[in-house]
Amino acid sequence: MDLNFLRGAVGEDEWLQLQPFISDAHSRLHTHQVPGGDFLGWLDLPSRTLATGVEDIADVAAEIRSEADALVVIGIGGSYLGAHAAFEWTHSPYHNQLDRGVRGGPELYFAGNHLSGRALEDLLGVLEGKNVYLNVISKSGTTTEPAVAFRIFRDWLTRRVGPEQARRQIVATTDRSRGALRKLADEEHYRSFVIPDDVGGRYSVLTPVGLLPLAAVGVDIKKLLAGAAAAQSGYNVGDVAENPAYRYAAVRNALYRKGKTTELLAYYEPALRMFAEWWKQLFGESEGKDAKGVYPASVGFTTDLHSMGQYVQEGLRNLFETVVSVAESGDTVAIPSQPQMEDGLEYLAQRRVSWVNDKARLATQLAHRDGGVPNLLVTVPDRSEETLGNLFYFFELACAMSGLLMGVNPFNQPGVEAYKTNMFALLGKPGFEQGQQEILRRLDELHQGNS
Ligand code: PA5
Repeated sequence: MDLNFLRGAVGEDEWLQLQPFISDAHSRLHTHQVPGGDFLGWLDLPSRTLATGVEDIADVAAEIRSEADALVVIGIGGSYLGAHAAFEWTHSPYHNQLDRGVRGGPELYFAGNHLSGRALEDLLGVLEGKNVYLNVISKSGTTTEPAVAFRIFRDWLTRRVGPEQARRQIVATTDRSRGALRKLADEEHYRSFVIPDDVGGRYSVLTPVGLLPLAAVGVDIKKLLAGAAAAQSGYNVGDVAENPAYRYAAVRNALYRKGKTTELLAYYEPALRMFAEWWKQLFGESEGKDAKGVYPASVGFTTDLHSMGQYVQEGLRNLFETVVSVAESGDTVAIPSQPQMEDGLEYLAQRRVSWVNDKARLATQLAHRDGGVPNLLVTVPDRSEETLGNLFYFFELACAMSGLLMGVNPFNQPGVEAYKTNMFALLGKPGFEQGQQEILRRLDELHQGNS
């Protein structure tokens, strides 16, 4: 982690002074004496999972890999973002268009993460004629978006392959004993995997929530876990000088206290797009409560330099930036020499595009810093599974510490219920009838301008 581009915005003393709190919070975290202490199963999840083994996941994944043309993962929030992030991190963006022989496994689609009927229909259209497996993922088993999608896809699959075969092609990932999905999975004899009680949705990527779909598309999940396990032991130290995860938490806290209330996660490889979405949920749900929290946003550069670049450079100065840079992108593509062309690019002839990208990153970091957007740089070596596992754990741990520094419970999300209560009343869900009249009255008032 490179903090040089923070110079002038926040001094070392300003985040080093958080050391006593961090040492104490580190001990409390590892003895489960923090708010939300029942949701700390992620802390030793990588080593525990490696010790118990992932054979059961690997077996089902191998079947999906050989039998399915397409796998549809149905889930929302923590029940899909990590898998989607890891899929994009490890695969070509054109994976689903590649020949089966090149892909070596199924196409992968994500559903149940919105309520757009049109988008569902579009996906059903793509799946026509394919042998489809479904992995429905919901810890509570009652979340509206995946429940709606699952009904539709299950019905579609059953009509195509018959109830018996559909049962074989549906895999449920849910709570061990509670919830509607667990009940259905048991009744229908679906193969199923358990989301541990003590791991919340946004911390669940290294449980079967992420591991099963990732293994099904050929991700080496043992390497993913090994990378996370290395982080688990490497970052198990309460000293900010030695622990980059805590250093990151301390720096962003110091920036927040100086009015830098929005953090941009900036990436220069499009393959990190969904990683940024995963990161946004992690920090947004963990920290944004009690009228506090750094607002997590993301920008994909250099693309967004041509849309958001103006704002970042000269807009409201409440921003700071965390750049995640991949040192070796793995590309070989070079800019060809074409002296006859008048595009002014001959000076770059034979340069790899990733070399140009890296210079753009450095130039942007400096420009943003000079423009009043302090930034810090997290460099990862490559896009391997080990690196990703390490980075998942790095941000999970940093986020937990960050929430504790902020004085909130990083492991709950009471605010996500507000829209649901209104929505259920508007939809006429049994049990919400009383609220319906009140909501309709209030909406009417707002529309009339009386409220
Ligand atoms: O982090 C969380 O807890 C949420 O994002 C949940 O993962 C999300 O709401 C989906 O919940 P469930 O898995 O119960 O369907």
